[in-house]
Amino acid sequence: MSIKMDQAQILGWLREANPDRLQELWRRADETRRAQVGDAVHLRGLVEISNFCSRQCAYCGLRIGNSNLTRYRMEADEILEAAQQAMKFGYGTVVLQAGEDYGITARWLAEVVRRIKSETPLAVTLSLGERLDKELAAWRAAGADRYLLRFETSDRNLFDEIHPPTGNRKCDRIAILRRLRDLGYEVGSGIMVGIPGQTYASVAKDIALFREMDLDMIGIGPFIPHPATPLGSGMQFFPSVNGEQVPNHELMVYKAIALTRLVRPDANIPATTALATINKKNGRELGLQRGANVFMPNLTPLKYRRLYEIYPNKACITETGDACNGCLGLRIHSIGRNIGSGPGGRRERPAVAELESGKECCHA
Ligand code: 5AD
Ligand code: FES
Repeated sequence: MSIKMDQAQILGWLREANPDRLQELWRRADETRRAQVGDAVHLRGLVEISNFCSRQCAYCGLRIGNSNLTRYRMEADEILEAAQQAMKFGYGTVVLQAGEDYGITARWLAEVVRRIKSETPLAVTLSLGERLDKELAAWRAAGADRYLLRFETSDRNLFDEIHPPTGNRKCDRIAILRRLRDLGYEVGSGIMVGIPGQTYASVAKDIALFREMDLDMIGIGPFIPHPATPLGSGMQFFPSVNGEQVPNHELMVYKAIALTRLVRPDANIPATTALATINKKNGRELGLQRGANVFMPNLTPLKYRRLYEIYPNKACITETGDACNGCLGLRIHSIGRNIGSGPGGRRERPAVAELESGKECCHA
């Protein structure tokens, strides 16, 4: 079931500036979230397993052209250790994320997935870029449950500009998402808000597309300029969009989250790290109060964490998994919510778990 809202209405909300009207939007999104997916906040432990990348995305600090970045790839045992930690903290899911790193082979990762599935009860989510069909199939066969691949923007011209293809392989993320679904994955996607050259109308289209696609998870974060990238270094090679440029501000991200909740009431929507990065004090809490129901605590070993610099000044870069876990419990409790137990897939009802409250908190 989704709330009927056409693209013009979505666009109207994206442009809304009246604080009273916006309160109404937050209220409707929060009510819909509570009615459809409950008060539980599902935790997905994020492990950034490699920062190698073969692509040249114009927005991303991991792009192959960034020669100032020290590259790493975690060992299988290190990944297993992080998964054990996720289990210890009671998270239902571990997310293995990397750049598009072909040093991560189908066989090696399939073995890692098999080990996690046999040694833990965790759901395994992969977020490894536009990998080949046979690789995606091999990982699914090894037991991977979910795959995340954001389409970033539904504006095809803008996407092609910021995401150059490799060789002559045309890149169609919507088709890959369909394929993932056929392989039996639960599928997540999402967008960045405020990409240079992105219009209000195109974000309205993105949200309309979320309604049409059968997505289990929808991640929405602000575009954050990275100085070692074309988009972050002020290079102006994008078409001027004449006052139609959508800002990469916090408020715009909340609007996109709230509208996404209204058009996809039962989706899993994370309060993203990028949102926490532009409002370290309470960006995540506000995201959770304006439609989101998922949180992705970082379990990457500290020695690698600062190297996974997709964008600068990332939130939670110096806290250990333990500290983050404690902090999260406090944050979630502070807004009257509880922590979900189990894998938290879209098709299950949320269950309530006792909160193990933590001692430390990462940000004031
Ligand atoms: N700012 C914000 N988000 C970014 N991502 C990549 N680069 C940036 C950036 N500069 C997001 C993309 C990608 C996800 C893993 O991180 O949406 O899909
Ligand atoms: Fe490859 Fe960002 S350019 S992960």
